[in-house]
Amino acid sequence: MKNFISVKDVTDINALVNKALAYKADPFRDRTLGANKRIGLLFLNPSMRTRLSTQIAAANLGMEAVVFNVGQEGWALEFEDEAIMSGSTVEHVKDAAPILGKYFDILGIRTFPSLQNKQDDYSELYIQQFIKYAGIPVVSLESATLHPLQSLTDIITITETFKEKRRPKVVLTWAPHVKALPQCVANSFSQWINAWGQADFVITHPEDYELDPAFTKGASITHDQDYALKGADFVYVKNWSTYNDYGRIYCNDPAWMLTSDKLNATNHAKVMHCLPVRRNVELSDEVLDGFSSIVTHQASNRVWAAQSVLSELLARPL
Ligand code: CP
Repeated sequence: MKNFISVKDVTDINALVNKALAYKADPFRDRTLGANKRIGLLFLNPSMRTRLSTQIAAANLGMEAVVFNVGQEGWALEFEDEAIMSGSTVEHVKDAAPILGKYFDILGIRTFPSLQNKQDDYSELYIQQFIKYAGIPVVSLESATLHPLQSLTDIITITETFKEKRRPKVVLTWAPHVKALPQCVANSFSQWINAWGQADFVITHPEDYELDPAFTKGASITHDQDYALKGADFVYVKNWSTYNDYGRIYCNDPAWMLTSDKLNATNHAKVMHCLPVRRNVELSDEVLDGFSSIVTHQASNRVWAAQSVLSELLARPL
């Protein structure tokens, strides 16, 4: 593994999942792997789980983690090549990233999309510029279009929760939200579940909320949420803004909120969400506080996902 930006950086998903589960059973089994190494965690946007779980994962491997909230504390970065920097940006990534490459052995970056320009966001300019100029392995802590550490966590959680000798039915359902949110988690979950190939995967959302087939190809897609939920073993709840009319909110129909009544059609499904979640908008209190919800268990697995990825990057000569 050279960088960790998407599922395409992983040669064997199940091997990575098993490694994560081995760390869960024995967190300090590789306590010296990261000795004398440093990871820089750059946040251009807020985070709780990603930040803390990656710090803990690094500590478990004996590695120092330094957090830098670039969005709040750093110089405003310019990412466009050949930009005339007469506006608000103060430092070009071309100048900043090589310095970070000298300070750190691995760089983690969180950089959300603008939701203003689909082409720019989907080019992944920000994270690609860091890869181009830092000269060290880069880990996505959620980029403009993907959230691979979350998706690896999700597959770890499904693997350890589902013990039957058949393929689980996994449903990704759109949920209402008050703000326009990125498509990252839904794109990434779809990409990983399809690449994993060990679940019957259904995506349900209102009309005009289609995701890019580059991520969803292989899934069954329906606008009928009730139909989608029938017999589901896992229901992954997530909002995303529109893709074709980029970054817009068309529908906030509360009827799409997952409730206990809707879960009656499932096969006693476990309910997942990447968090943070808007209670009684995306998911009802009843579901979140009930026995079906595994969101806390899911979030706790973020540590083991991060630890398995960092160990892969540390295992190659840095
Ligand atoms: N799920 C997730 O990435 O959480 P944070 O935004 O808190 O890191």
